[in-house]
Amino acid sequence: MREKIVAGNWKMNTSIQEGKHLAEDILSGLDRVPEGVTLIVAPPFTHLFPIACLIGARKNPGLAAQNCADRNNGAFTGEVSSSMLASVPCQYVILGHSERRQYYGETNQILLDKIKLALDGGLRPIFCVGEVLSKRESNLHFQIVSSQLREVLCQLDPDEFRKVIVAYEPVWAIGTGKTATSGQAQEMHAFIRAFLAESFGELAESTPILYGGSCKPSNAAEIFAQRDVDGGLIGGASLKADDFLAIAGSFARP
Ligand code: PGA
Repeated sequence: MREKIVAGNWKMNTSIQEGKHLAEDILSGLDRVPEGVTLIVAPPFTHLFPIACLIGARKNPGLAAQNCADRNNGAFTGEVSSSMLASVPCQYVILGHSERRQYYGETNQILLDKIKLALDGGLRPIFCVGEVLSKRESNLHFQIVSSQLREVLCQLDPDEFRKVIVAYEPVWAIGTGKTATSGQAQEMHAFIRAFLAESFGELAESTPILYGGSCKPSNAAEIFAQRDVDGGLIGGASLKADDFLAIAGSFARP
């Protein structure tokens, strides 16, 4: 059985105090998370250590950073390395989010460097792929996603690849209130799994592939019920503990 994961990407939101409250609210509602579902929170860098202290020895939720440097420790002012994140301790790092690609010029080559360093540092990457609206409208979405996979994930060796979590996030659905239909999500998730199987064989069967883009309590159950959807990467709705927990609760209990 594949892992089921619901990850909250807080983006550049909340003060440390607000973030700690949000984390406390999530911790006090963990009984709403079905058995076997891994919850992950990805607060801003500044919040990671205080939230790690709140989480303590619990397995759930895991802690993710939203980015890491493409270099090792050293003279790189303003950057945060994967080994620093691992020392918080964080277990995961989101890489390749469309906002990083679009606003900070992160290319597939930079992302490959980051993924390698993340894995070396002991972190599991949550690697995001997805197409902008114009590419979907011109029927180029499979081509875009396959090049993102080919140039980054397919360059890993199988032992590295087995730690990766993929997130399909159609850029036109992020923060827009416009969700992919469950059919569109399933179609792309199945495509991603088949594409990865060409390089990694049956390992791709156990790769968690999360959906992201305006996922909320009212649509999560239908999307998560799709065969190749293994959970969600949640932006806006992860800033409300109640909504985030309701989304995690959308997995049918076994
Ligand atoms: P959203 O963001 O849920 O607010 O659309 C998802 C994401 O960017 O990860």
